[in-house]
Amino acid sequence: MISKKLEEAVNAQIQAEMYSANLYLSMSAYFRSKGLDGFAHWMYIQYQEEMFHAMKFFNYLFSRGGRAEIREMEKPATDFDSPRDVYEKALKHEQLVTSLINNLHEIAIEENDYAFQAFNQWYIDEQVEEEESAQGIIDKLDLAGEGGIYWVDKELAARTFTPTNPGEGEV
Ligand code: FEO
Repeated sequence: MISKKLEEAVNAQIQAEMYSANLYLSMSAYFRSKGLDGFAHWMYIQYQEEMFHAMKFFNYLFSRGGRAEIREMEKPATDFDSPRDVYEKALKHEQLVTSLINNLHEIAIEENDYAFQAFNQWYIDEQVEEEESAQGIIDKLDLAGEGGIYWVDKELAARTFTPTNPGEGEV
């Protein structure tokens, strides 16, 4: 059974993952409003991935005898200066999420919860990819320059999301 302290921290993380989903959906809406449909598509997939992250924690809490709670969330930003500004903010946000995931791991170590540490390793690895992909797009935008945004937009349109089972229940 999961401890109350870790259950509370996981519930806070579910909220952080759902906030991430809302933030990326808001970024997707910004791109759509600018006619950048490839960027909008990439961010929509990112939204789906964040909901997957949230549901994986949600289902895990029940499998450990805990209870997931859905809480009130802050409104995400709606306006941005440029595609680069969006990805800089996405990278900064992912760096914050990495610190939250690391903090969860530290709590699990304090609580001697080995099962949670094994489960959380998936998120630790995922955060390496999350930061790398946001940084990768910043690098592409720098390479492409103003005039190359169209080509980056075309490339981002090809992103796909293949969900695996996030645990008990549905995404
Ligand atoms: Fe769920 Fe983007 O970290």
